[in-house]
Amino acid sequence: MEIGIVGTGFIAGVLGRALATAGHDVTFGSRHPEEGDVAGGSGARVASVPAALTAGDVVVLALPGAAVADLAAAHGELLAGALVVDATNRMGAPVANARASLPDTVRYARAFNTLGGEVMARPVFEGRPADMFFSAPEADRPTVEALVAGVGLRPVYVGPDQEELLDCLFRLWVTLAVSQGRGRRLALRLLDGDTDR
Ligand SMILES: NC(=O)c1ccc[n+]([C@@H]2O[C@H](COP(=O)([O-])OP(=O)(O)OC[C@H]3O[C@@H](n4cnc5c(N)ncnc54)[C@H](OP(=O)(O)O)[C@@H]3O)[C@@H](O)[C@H]2O)c1
Repeated sequence: MEIGIVGTGFIAGVLGRALATAGHDVTFGSRHPEEGDVAGGSGARVASVPAALTAGDVVVLALPGAAVADLAAAHGELLAGALVVDATNRMGAPVANARASLPDTVRYARAFNTLGGEVMARPVFEGRPADMFFSAPEADRPTVEALVAGVGLRPVYVGPDQEELLDCLFRLWVTLAVSQGRGRRLALRLLDGDTDR
C-alpha cells in the first residue's frame, strides 16, 4: 500500500516506521523535509506535504487538529476525493476530530485517535494486540483495516461516519490513562467470540 502521512512528530513517526517496516510504501509529509530523521532506517521517505497528500492509496493526518484547517486551505485540491484517516485530537475542544475542517469530498476515516502513541508503538499485551476501533466508508474498510493491522493493532470496525463515537473513546482513554493516573500503557480490547466480525 502507498501511504502518505502528514506530520513527522510522535504519532507520525510511530505509525510511519511501523508501516514501512511492515513493507508498505510510506511518505512522510513535512514543512521542512530536510530536517530530522523520523524515518529512522525504516525505509520510509520524508518529502513535502503535497508529496504525502498525493502518495497513493491513503493519507493519514498526524498533525495538530487545529492545523488541519490550514492544511485544507493550502492543499484542499489535493485532498479532494482522497481517503483521509484522521488521527488528530483536539484536546479540550467541543469536537475532537477534524472532519469539519476537511473538504466534503474526502473519504473520511477516523482511526489511531483512541490510544496513546506508547501503545501504538508497542501494541501487544500478554501476547495479543490491543484493539483499534475505527470508522471508514464501507468501501474503504479493507484499506483502513490493513493500515491498522500494519501497525500491529487489531482493527475493530464500527461503521461509517462514527467519528463522534470514536471521540468518546478518546475521552475515555484520557480519563483512564491520564486523569485517573493509570498510565499511558493502557488499551482496550473487545471480548467478542466472533473475531472475524
Ligand atoms: N501523542 C499521542 O499519544 C497521540 C495519540 C493519538 C492521537 N494523537 C494526535 O496526533 C496528532 C499528532 O500528535 P503528536 O503527538 O505526534 O504531535 P507532535 O509530536 O507535536 O507532531 C506534530 C507534527 O505536526 C506537524 N505540523 C504542525 N502543523 C502543521 C501544518 N500546518 N502542516 C503540516 N504539518 C504540521 C509538525 O511539524 P512541524 O515540525 O513542521 O511543526 C509535527 O511534525 C495530534 O492531533 C494528536 O492529538 C496523539
